[in-house]
Amino acid sequence: MGSGIAETAAVNGFEVVLRSRSQSTADATLAALEKSLNRQIEKGKRTEVERDETLARVTGTSDLGALKDVDLVIESVIEDLAIKKELFNELDRITGDSTILATNTSTLPVIELAMQTGRPDKVCGVHFFNPAPVMDLVELVRPDETMAATRQFAESCGKSPVEVKDQAGFIVNALLFPYLNNAVRLYEQGVASIEDIDTAMKGGCGFPMGPFALLDLVGLDTSLAILDALYDEYRDPNYAAMPLLRRMVAAEQLGRKSGRGFLDYRK
Ligand code: 3HC
Repeated sequence: MGSGIAETAAVNGFEVVLRSRSQSTADATLAALEKSLNRQIEKGKRTEVERDETLARVTGTSDLGALKDVDLVIESVIEDLAIKKELFNELDRITGDSTILATNTSTLPVIELAMQTGRPDKVCGVHFFNPAPVMDLVELVRPDETMAATRQFAESCGKSPVEVKDQAGFIVNALLFPYLNNAVRLYEQGVASIEDIDTAMKGGCGFPMGPFALLDLVGLDTSLAILDALYDEYRDPNYAAMPLLRRMVAAEQLGRKSGRGFLDYRK
């Protein structure tokens, strides 16, 4: 997500500081961004000059202090509340008082991150969708003080923002994940094959991807973390992750990023 969000902002003229835990992951994320831009050149959607100008707007670093003077931080680390809380605490210390601190979380409570800082009125959710450069939607979450600025940012990135309350899953994941989880249930029950369930939901509902291809795109570990957070909040059985999903994550079959999930990407 970090690479996709950085690409989206940089392509639309924003200066971006891309901060990762190590310089090597920052470099790898920059390389992924450059690869994405090169694919767009091959498709005739972007020029080499645009690519070079975009890349010149992005700095990769492992130094959190490099975020000192930015207007907006978009955190997109792992969906783990303790890790995010610690990061927001540090970001609050490092950045100037007027910096907006946003999280790309899809399920965790934004208010808990806000309360880690001395500026809760400047902490909000700015939730992009995967793949961020392509997907039109951004969900904006609390508080009123940041809405105008984050809306302007999202619209400047060519997105269509919606406002939503600070409730686990916001709009999209609250509706999407019961569907994805129940697709796994259907497969576990032997009702149909993975391929046929994907084909059915594309052909029958006009979805661009079937549920298993989408789970693999999002990442099975991320999907499990989302379902666990939703179940924690609502105790609704539709959010109780299917055992197969949990076993696949334990076996490090995480989807596209590990080469294998419900489908096989090792070619
Ligand atoms: N970066 C940049 N551009 C990309 C891209 C990427 N990672 N992946 C695809 N694209 C571009 C392609 O270049 C192409 O552009 P073009 O049509 O102008 O040439 C366009 O997207 C379509 O891509 P493809 O032709 O390769 O393939 P598809 O037509 O199958 O589209 C898809 C791929 C856009 C991923 C489409 O299948 C889709 O929309 N799938 C659904 C994705 C979805 O539902 N995402 C939300 C997941 S939930 C989530 O993110 C929430 C989080 O909290 C978990």
